[in-house]
Amino acid sequence: MSEQPFETPASVGDLQDQLRGVGYLADRGLGTAALIALRLGRPLLLEGEVGVGKTELAKCLAQLTGRELIRLQCYEGIDTHQALYEWDYARQMLHVRALSEHELADAQTIGGLYAEEFLLERPLLQAIRSGSNAVLLIDEIDRADDEFEAFLLELLSDFQITIPEVGTVEAAGRPIVILTSNRTRELHDALKRRCLYHWIGYPTAAEETDIVRVRAPDVTEALAQKVVAAVHRLRDMDLAKPPGVAETLDWVESLGAIGADELTGESATDTLGAVVKDRDDLELVSSDIARVVPGS
Ligand SMILES: Nc1ncnc2c1ncn2[C@@H]1O[C@H](COP(=O)(O)OP(=O)(O)O)[C@@H](O)[C@H]1O
Ligand SMILES: [Mg+2]
Repeated sequence: MSEQPFETPASVGDLQDQLRGVGYLADRGLGTAALIALRLGRPLLLEGEVGVGKTELAKCLAQLTGRELIRLQCYEGIDTHQALYEWDYARQMLHVRALSEHELADAQTIGGLYAEEFLLERPLLQAIRSGSNAVLLIDEIDRADDEFEAFLLELLSDFQITIPEVGTVEAAGRPIVILTSNRTRELHDALKRRCLYHWIGYPTAAEETDIVRVRAPDVTEALAQKVVAAVHRLRDMDLAKPPGVAETLDWVESLGAIGADELTGESATDTLGAVVKDRDDLELVSSDIARVVPGS
């Protein structure tokens, strides 16, 4: 974490440079969206295919700003308690067992069971309390259901919550908020309206080669270009699970691990599991490896 307080960069170019400094390559569109979100203190909703750098942007922004990253991973069936706070029943029970009958008869004792010391903070409460010291990542919100989305909408507008037994907790300053969606379903317009929106597409071949060079500096430029070109051909193949940037990086690392400094039909086939992670896709690609690595 940086010791110096973070100052919002003066321009998109400056923010892009600073992000590059922490290993993240943002194109001009994403850099612009991020700068606006920082300046206006608005949540930024990032949509795109799996593995295009949505989650990573939140991590890198936390690193850049010296803020704590607080991540709420959404999933099917997530409810407000798992997101906000829960009471620590086990500790409450232990406490009750240690009380005398006399103490138990006292109504105040029972009230005391719902005190701060028995409260388990979950990511959203943690983010409200950390306020301007936090980057709040609400990850894969498309996995949560409608009801949870509505609850988030409310939270994002007030940044305060009321815990009946404790009172109202208000954010001391706003966290930077990044929401991500892999777009397995449409999000509601109301949520989109509250946020700035940016679609992250797959990087161009040149951009992706650049990402490989930053993330895997030991790889030669020539190999990086070849692997990226092969990944781009895979993305054109109509696979069930097209490879993201993470897979490109896995692929170059796997090639490195077997000491292959060239991408050939053979080394590609040997390491295909790093980049194609679906059985039917694997069959399709293996049977037509010359399409992925021409000349092999
Ligand atoms: N623009 C980028 N700059 C640097 N690394 C990137 C970029 N995009 C993706 N990556 C790499 O790809 C990996 C997967 O990205 P991630 O953020 O997890 O994807 P998703 O969009 O599914 O959240 C990251 O861990 C990072 O190593
Ligand atoms: Mg992600």
